[in-house]
Amino acid sequence: MQLTISTKPINKINTDLLVLFVTESWEKEISILGAEVSKKVVTVAKAEDFKGKSKETVVVDTDTGYKRLLVAGISGDTKEATVFDLQQTIATAMGVVKGTKRKDIAVSIRPAWSIQAVVEAILLSTYTFNKYKSKNEDKAIEKVIILAPDAQRTKFQKGIEAGINFSQATMFARDLVNEPAEVMNPTVLAQTAKDIAGKNKNIHLTLYEKKEIAKLGMNAFLGVSQGSDSPPKFIRLHYKPEGSRKKIVIVGKGITFDTGGLSLKPGHSMETMKCDMAGAAAVLGVFSVISEINVNVEVVGLIAACENMPSGKALRPGDILKAMNGKTIEVLNTDAEGRLTLADVLSFAVLKEKPDGIIDLATLTGAMMVALGEDITGLFGNDNRLIELLKKAANEAGEPVWHMPLPVTYLPLIKSNIADLRNTSKGKYGGAITAALFLQEFVGKTPWVHLDIAGPAFAEKNTPLAPYGGTGFGVRLLLRLLTNY
Ligand code: BES
Ligand code: ZN
Ligand code: ZN
Repeated sequence: MQLTISTKPINKINTDLLVLFVTESWEKEISILGAEVSKKVVTVAKAEDFKGKSKETVVVDTDTGYKRLLVAGISGDTKEATVFDLQQTIATAMGVVKGTKRKDIAVSIRPAWSIQAVVEAILLSTYTFNKYKSKNEDKAIEKVIILAPDAQRTKFQKGIEAGINFSQATMFARDLVNEPAEVMNPTVLAQTAKDIAGKNKNIHLTLYEKKEIAKLGMNAFLGVSQGSDSPPKFIRLHYKPEGSRKKIVIVGKGITFDTGGLSLKPGHSMETMKCDMAGAAAVLGVFSVISEINVNVEVVGLIAACENMPSGKALRPGDILKAMNGKTIEVLNTDAEGRLTLADVLSFAVLKEKPDGIIDLATLTGAMMVALGEDITGLFGNDNRLIELLKKAANEAGEPVWHMPLPVTYLPLIKSNIADLRNTSKGKYGGAITAALFLQEFVGKTPWVHLDIAGPAFAEKNTPLAPYGGTGFGVRLLLRLLTNY
C-alpha cells in the first residue's frame, strides 16, 4: 500500500473514495465539502438517521474529484478520546472502506489526532494473512492519501514514517504468530533472529544451542523442552547505539507450541496454542525496526524457544528442576511451562546482563484472560518508575494495560513442600498473580515489569485492528517505551 500526503483543499482531491470523520455537529462540519455535496449528504444522512455517533457511517456518490464519500462518525469530544478509541474508530471505518472495494482512497484527519496513530490504524486494519488460501479474494487498498494542512507537512511526514515502522514491526510479529507451529518451530524462530541481525549492522545475535544452554545451568528451560524432538534455542539479540547509557532487556515467552505436556490440554484449549510464542514474536518485531527508529538506549532481546510436548522423554509432574539462579522448582503441572522457561531467562538477564530494567511479555495464564478479558494486558512490576513508564507507553501506543498487584501474602501459595518453589498455586484463584509472583523470584532487585499478554496476543475473531490470529500486541508499546526512554 502506498501512503502519501496531500495538502490540496478537500474538494480538489481526486480519488475513488474520500473518508471524512465527523462528530455529532456533523451538519456544520460537512460544509467544507461545498454547498452541493453537503446538501446531498444531509439528504442521505437524514434518511438513514445518521447522528455522527461512533461507528455510524454514510456513503454518498458524488460528481466531484472523489467519486464517493464515506462520512464516518466519531464519539464525543476528540480531546478526551484515547489512542485506543481513535484507532478503533479509524479501523472500523476502514472495514467499511474494504466493503466498498475501492482501491484509491483519501482520508481526512482531525486536528486533535495523532498522525502516527492514524497511519497505524489504517495499515494494521488492512493486514491479511492469506498465504495458505488457494484463492485470494481480498481486494487490497492500493493507495491512501492523507489530507494535511500545508503548515504541518513536516510534522505529518514524521508521523507517517513512525506509523509505517511501528506497523511493519507489528505485522512482522503477526506473521510469526500466524504461521503454523510446524513451520514456526524453535529453529525457524532462531533463523528469523539471525536474518534480523544479518540485515542490521548494529544488531548482533548470540545463539545458544542445547549444550550451551546446559552449560549455563538453564535446567528449568531444558526441562520444558525435553519432551520435544525439536531442539531448544536460546536467542540473544543485542542492539547498542553509540553513546547509550542505559540498558534494557526485553524478554519474550517463546513456546512455539503448548500442548500442556503430560498435563495435556483439552483439544479446544490447544487450538490456538501456536500463539504461545507471541511474546517472542513481539521482541523480534521490535528488533526488526529498532535501527530505523530513534532508540538511544542499549537493548537486549532474550527468547528461550522450545516446544512443550508430551512424550516418553517428557517432564513429569513431581519432577524437580534447578533454575540458573540456583532456586529449585517442583513441577506439579507441566502446562505451567512458561514460568519455567522464563525463570531461567530472567535469571540470565539479571546475572549476565546486569540491566537497568527488564520487561517480559508472556502469554502466561488463562487466569489473566478471566480477569481482564481479551483486550487488556495485565501489568505486574517491582519498580514504580518502570511501571509508570510502561503505562505511559501503553497509553500512547493504544495498547491497554492494567496494573495488577504482587501481594506478599500470596507467596505461601507457591512454596513447595520439597523444593523452593512449586510451579502452580496451591489455591484455586488469582492464577495470573501467583504466576507473576513466581517470576518475581528470579529478578532479584532489578527493576522489572511483566506483561501477561494471554488475552490480547491472539484475536479469536476478526476485530477492527486485527483479523483472526496474532495481533502483534506489545510491539508498539515496547517501541514507544524504547523511544521515550
Ligand atoms: N500458554 C498457556 C496460557 C494461555 C492460555 C495463553 C490461553 C493464551 C491463551 C500457559 O502455558 C498455561 O497453560 N497456563 C496454565 C497454567 C496452569 C496450569 C497453572 C493455565 O493458564 O491454565
Ligand atoms: Zn501451558
Ligand atoms: Zn504456555
